[in-house]
Amino acid sequence: MAGFKIRLLLNVGIFLSIVNADRTVFIDPNDPWQVLEGWGTSLCWWANALGGFPDVRDQTADLVFDLDKGLGLNVIRYNIGGGDNQSHHHMRIGGDVPGFRPCQNCDYNWTSDANQRWILFAAKERGADIFEAFSNSPPYWMTNSGCSSGGPNYANNLNSDYYDQFADYLTEVVKWYKDEQGLVFRTLEPFNEPTTGLWKEFGSQEGCTYKYLAMDEVVDKVGAYLNKKGLSGTTSVSIADEGLFEGEITTIAAISTLNIFGDHAKSYVSQYNTHAYFGFLRTPLFDIAKNDGKRLWMSEWGSWSSKDMSASIKLSEQILNDMRNLKPVAWVYWQVIEHAPNGNDGKDYGLIGADFSNSTTPLDIRLSFYGFAQYTKFIRPGYQIIFSNDGDTLAAQDKQKNTCFSLHK
Ligand SMILES: *[C@@H]1O[C@H](CO)[C@@H](O)[C@H](O)[C@H]1NC(C)=O
Ligand SMILES: *[C@@H]1O[C@H](CO)[C@@H](O)[C@H](O)[C@H]1NC(C)=O
Ligand SMILES: *[C@@H]1O[C@H](CO)[C@@H](O)[C@H](O)[C@H]1NC(C)=O
Repeated sequence: MAGFKIRLLLNVGIFLSIVNADRTVFIDPNDPWQVLEGWGTSLCWWANALGGFPDVRDQTADLVFDLDKGLGLNVIRYNIGGGDNQSHHHMRIGGDVPGFRPCQNCDYNWTSDANQRWILFAAKERGADIFEAFSNSPPYWMTNSGCSSGGPNYANNLNSDYYDQFADYLTEVVKWYKDEQGLVFRTLEPFNEPTTGLWKEFGSQEGCTYKYLAMDEVVDKVGAYLNKKGLSGTTSVSIADEGLFEGEITTIAAISTLNIFGDHAKSYVSQYNTHAYFGFLRTPLFDIAKNDGKRLWMSEWGSWSSKDMSASIKLSEQILNDMRNLKPVAWVYWQVIEHAPNGNDGKDYGLIGADFSNSTTPLDIRLSFYGFAQYTKFIRPGYQIIFSNDGDTLAAQDKQKNTCFSLHK
């Protein structure tokens, strides 16, 4: 491994300076930043595959959610499948997430999505305690293209006759999980990268481009349904999970998208989610969330695997940049496990590689898994992130005011 990595536990209550062979770092417990509520992952698309493998799913869940046996991730992003036209066969393995209403005149089918649900509850049993539900696409039958991976030519894809039914669908799923399964989604996010222009019919995963006005209206309707269904005490809305768009960069997209929501829609919103691919306007976005009184998450980032330490170092640099400058209270990886039947060839985002079509292929636990663990196992939910004057350092205090810091180079 190149360079060094140090971790110390100190009892301090005062301004402290750590002198290392080649640098001095000042940390200040009297300058509190964000309180971490957790590290997380989305369940795309691995849970839909591995949740159906009884022989390895417990081991998998231990690695991701158990603090002693693995990463101890406690923030879960569950993907409410739209479900595609059943005669389409173009999704990547695992990406064909089942929806709960296979056609417009069909009843809800609550046995649907059993694999992802198994992983969701396995997370809860291992200590996960913050759950968000999000949508990549409405059901195919609500879309313009009739396909849940996107519109013709990347066009916006929610049919304007279905704003109400889409809001009803999402909130019905949240209600079922609460009433019938005892699991509360604290937030419900109707969109994923809604203006990136990435989502095209017959693509490899669910995705949907939205017009700005559609987004405002959908949030208004989701909020109204949460109220009407008696869910608003436990579930509120998060927006808008932007990625990059049209050559611009993620956090610019996040800021311009947030600006299109009216005050009425925003009154239902408790949380701003941003992805952090390529973005650099972290501090302005932090300021906007703070000014609006909304919780801020870094809800998605991922990067290519590697056989050497480079993926791990990139992950660490990303966490440091985000945690220091965007200051989200949760930091959520996109796909902790990926389908990698050809091994660690640098073409997937997994911290763990798996074969989604063959449960007996051994899991490939990569160096980046241990890289993430350097943060997730030591800086825990509830810890206060505190000032440090060095871009390669993240310092935090636990409730007993023990200071923990990590220095990465
Ligand atoms: C599903 O796709 C098939 C094949 O493209 C098409 O014939 C059928 O009409 C579609 N069903 C619906 C409900 O859109
Ligand atoms: C409900 O979903 C399950 C699981 O996908 C499937 O086996 C079953 O046939 C579906 N039921 C109906 C009525 O479509
Ligand atoms: C599944 O993986 C095992 C272990 O790597 C291998 O022996 C077996 O041939 C694979 N099965 C298929 C169908 O590829």
